[in-house]
Amino acid sequence: MRLLDQDFELFLTQAEIESAIALMAGQLSEDYRGTCPLFVGVLNGCFRFAAELFKHYDAPCEVSFVKMASYQGLTSTGIVETLLDVSESVEGRDVVILEDIVDSGHTLQHLVTHFADKNIRSFKIATLFYKPASYHKEYEIAYKGIDLPSEFVVGYGLDYNERGRELNDLYILKNS
Ligand code: IMP
Ligand code: MG
Repeated sequence: MRLLDQDFELFLTQAEIESAIALMAGQLSEDYRGTCPLFVGVLNGCFRFAAELFKHYDAPCEVSFVKMASYQGLTSTGIVETLLDVSESVEGRDVVILEDIVDSGHTLQHLVTHFADKNIRSFKIATLFYKPASYHKEYEIAYKGIDLPSEFVVGYGLDYNERGRELNDLYILKNS
């Protein structure tokens, strides 16, 4: 499979991804039952993950989105910008961040700082994909869907220079 100037090969099927998401949704519904958490999806990458998660999440909640930017091409720049913020008040809320993938953790670090000092009741991260060998930050990630090698992947919401987000399966960079 080719996207722009790179070749990718199938790594995970939609069915494999979605069974991991169903498990996460079950766990989250259990952990947050009796509260009304505010889920904050991180755009653009989380759109497939969020949509699938709420097919299975079966307790009261609210859903909002933020938009950050750090990646350009195949490598993380380390510079993260906030492009869109939540409009809801987060004070006193149980906030759960929905990330497509945690790689170096730069974006996550930025989110933690962004939501600090806002009198949030609780703050947790849920990420669909996680690259354990790339993550060197202290911050503990509460919910992880699927561990990946430290290689570049596309599909299921994740992009290569904005291409490939629409793909149903996950593809990995060839010869990486
Ligand atoms: P981090 O800041 O290095 O943890 O990277 C987080 C963000 O970079 C994610 O929200 C993704 O948008 C993007 N990203 C990280 N790894 C990949 C990848 O393998 N493919 C596509 N995007 C990625
Ligand atoms: Mg991206």
